[in-house]
Amino acid sequence: MSILIKNGQIVTASESYIADVYIEAEKIIAIGKDLDYQADKIIDATDKLVFPGGIDPHVHLDMPFMGTYSSDDYETGTRAALHGGTTMVIDFILQTQGDTLHNALKTWQQKSHGKAIGDYSYHMAVTDFNDDVAKEVVAMIEEEGISSFKTFMAYKGALMIDDGQMVQLMKVVKKHGGLVTVHATNGDMIDSLIAKNRALGNLSPLYHYLSQPEVTEAEASARFADMLNYTGCPGYIVHMTCEGALNAVRKATQRNQKVFVETCTQYLMLDASLYENDFEGAKWVMSPPLREKKDQAALWSGINQGLVQVVGTDHCPFMWEQKKMGKDDFSKIPNGHPAIEHRMELLFSEGVHKGKISLTKYVEVSSTNAAKIFGMYPRKGTIAIGSDADIVIFDPKKEHTISVETHHMNCDYSAYEGQKVTGKTETVILRGQVAIENEECLLNAGHGQFIPRGKTSKTVI
Ligand code: URP
Ligand code: ZN
Ligand code: ZN
Repeated sequence: MSILIKNGQIVTASESYIADVYIEAEKIIAIGKDLDYQADKIIDATDKLVFPGGIDPHVHLDMPFMGTYSSDDYETGTRAALHGGTTMVIDFILQTQGDTLHNALKTWQQKSHGKAIGDYSYHMAVTDFNDDVAKEVVAMIEEEGISSFKTFMAYKGALMIDDGQMVQLMKVVKKHGGLVTVHATNGDMIDSLIAKNRALGNLSPLYHYLSQPEVTEAEASARFADMLNYTGCPGYIVHMTCEGALNAVRKATQRNQKVFVETCTQYLMLDASLYENDFEGAKWVMSPPLREKKDQAALWSGINQGLVQVVGTDHCPFMWEQKKMGKDDFSKIPNGHPAIEHRMELLFSEGVHKGKISLTKYVEVSSTNAAKIFGMYPRKGTIAIGSDADIVIFDPKKEHTISVETHHMNCDYSAYEGQKVTGKTETVILRGQVAIENEECLLNAGHGQFIPRGKTSKTVI
């Protein structure tokens, strides 16, 4: 199959120009003005933007969590992602405490193989570190193409590791060229605030928010940065929400330290007032919780200051019936919300259309930086000769409204119901095949490939 995309405005992390793109088999073969190729399919992209396929490095598909499973699996989740222009996701394998990383890898391979429609990779969450696990960490990097290791400073008894384990893990990961990522909140502080609120009978979703104040995230982010500095390991803070945590990273830059930061669409666009609507607030119960308007402003400027490199989603949907597990107790509401589908469109509308970020910055944070940080650039994350032909053709003027009635995620509510958006994903190409056209997904389960990743470096950006 060959495709010629004519006259689009190609946008990469560094340039924006009008040209044609010729694709053959899975790769980009040529880029230039008035390309003269015979192609099986010609797409007229006049007045359209042509982006590299989006990469969402923070999703939870079919994940066991808080007594249930996230409601999108690899098929429904990657299909919804493609509809929105995200051609690749990185999901989290969770090690079961007391069990091996290899067993966890097998479980996630069974979830994904033959099911994924879009491309995917895995981060390995290390929830129980010891000498045997250290050997497995090396095998993950050297043999399995998994070079990023997720840690939790919260969720004690299920996922959390202590600081001693963290430092030992960082030493091994640094030695073998990997990266440690973190859910950076102070688990002990949060657990004590949850216990206090429950004892006082404060049980509505609002108390989920009040049990995780900004300081719990700022403190853990600073501690993580200090441990990275001590070990020399490259590190990445996932789903950062607030000014205090960002300032901890800003402070680390004063000793010339680079700590990569990801925020998510919801922390840029939604705020904690949503928790005031009684149990309705359960739709946005996630950890860390939504914050304040001043935090949104800090995160947008953090993107432009180069302190925040990636915008993901932390997509972790639950059906309303699942959310109701916490009807009488906020601490039993499964944490997470549906988001994988609209990241590219929301970020364009709120970021580029409203003038907060440039087009090239948009591509950087929605695709290129994730590819660089997680060891798959330039195969993924750019429009260049030889790269995978993962391409989004985007109409920057088209207006539409987000709704559960039209979304493709396996979730019976939308976190953005009724929100008007300017800019729409029109055609999506994944490794040289048209994946989305006329709002239909043309690829089947099993089309998605596992993308093995290379080593990372402290200075990718
Ligand atoms: O609320 C969230 N974020 N759920 C998914 C697990 C995590 O902490 O990322
Ligand atoms: Zn988390
Ligand atoms: Zn997450």
